[in-house]
Amino acid sequence: MGTPLRVSLYGAGLVGGNVAKVLSGRKGIRVEGPFDRAERDRALRGGADVVVIATTSFLADIADDVRAAVESGSNVITTAEEAAYPWANDEALATELDELARRHGVTILGAGLNPGYAFDALVVTACGYAWSVDALRVVRIVDLSGFGETVLRRIGIGYTPAAFEQGRRDGTITGHIGFPQSMQVVARKLGVTIDRIDRTIDPIFARERIAIPALTVDSGCSAGFEQRYTAIADGAPWFEAVFTGHIDLREIEKAPRDEIHVEGPTPLHITVDPGFNPQIGSAGVVANSIRRVAEARPGWVTVADLPPASPG
Ligand SMILES: NC(=O)c1ccc[n+]([C@@H]2O[C@H](COP(=O)([O-])OP(=O)(O)OC[C@H]3O[C@@H](n4cnc5c(N)ncnc54)[C@H](OP(=O)(O)O)[C@@H]3O)[C@@H](O)[C@H]2O)c1
Repeated sequence: MGTPLRVSLYGAGLVGGNVAKVLSGRKGIRVEGPFDRAERDRALRGGADVVVIATTSFLADIADDVRAAVESGSNVITTAEEAAYPWANDEALATELDELARRHGVTILGAGLNPGYAFDALVVTACGYAWSVDALRVVRIVDLSGFGETVLRRIGIGYTPAAFEQGRRDGTITGHIGFPQSMQVVARKLGVTIDRIDRTIDPIFARERIAIPALTVDSGCSAGFEQRYTAIADGAPWFEAVFTGHIDLREIEKAPRDEIHVEGPTPLHITVDPGFNPQIGSAGVVANSIRRVAEARPGWVTVADLPPASPG
């Protein structure tokens, strides 16, 4: 076997730790990190073959980190949800980083379980069966109890009704981020132009006090939420997504589950039961993307531009 691929992990949270665990047993890969903020330069500027950035969700917040890694000649995988399709958030910044990566001969990919696999890469694969596609619908019911406090607060857990309403209005409560990005990845692959994406988020309040490792939610405060996204193309709903997340799904008599519906002359309905585990899945997709990113064409790519993720 030749020289091992050097992989540097930036972000010492859940994803960083799990990716380190997955990769530590892989032949031909040498893991460095996970590194926290104090070791930013070592993580990003150490000249690794692939730098994994698992810190925040937002393109603007990871841009400098991506720039530093790319300028040091490293390919980048980031779990920032907005990075799955960065042109949707900031066309100028996405283009600048895409061009920078091309100049340095390296690849940038935004990937995790969702976005990055469940409702984009897998949807595109499901569409491979269809003679043609009229519409898509995905349903995701997720157990949120394994997430850390920062992510839970940002997505909308642990708020009184008034605080949730305030956070929804001022944008500090985001719900799950990533459906618009997944929708754009699939649309681009299928040659569809999305006119707009309508979205709603509604809290689900706890009936009783719920304690999970990351936090405790008092009765009457938000323990979950339901989000609905509808992408409109050619004046009609083309891609619908419904996401229910909760820290104790039993309270709302639900269980983790994912569904993909491909509508058209050859309809297809895929059910994943129990649904994808977000922690396991994200670490898997990132670890299983190391080689395909190291081998990809330079520039900022999406999961639909690459061969499927695979271990090994
Ligand atoms: N695409 C997907 O499917 C997918 C899947 C999983 C996770 N994600 C996203 O990936 C990110 C990481 O997930 P996680 O579960 O590992 O979160 P986490 O457990 O909260 O860990 C994040 C880590 O990154 C650090 N960090 C936060 N902001 C930073 C910044 N601006 N610069 C440097 N370090 C920073 C945090 O350190 P401090 O404690 O010092 O803040 C923490 O150690 C989250 O935004 C999450 O939403 C996406």
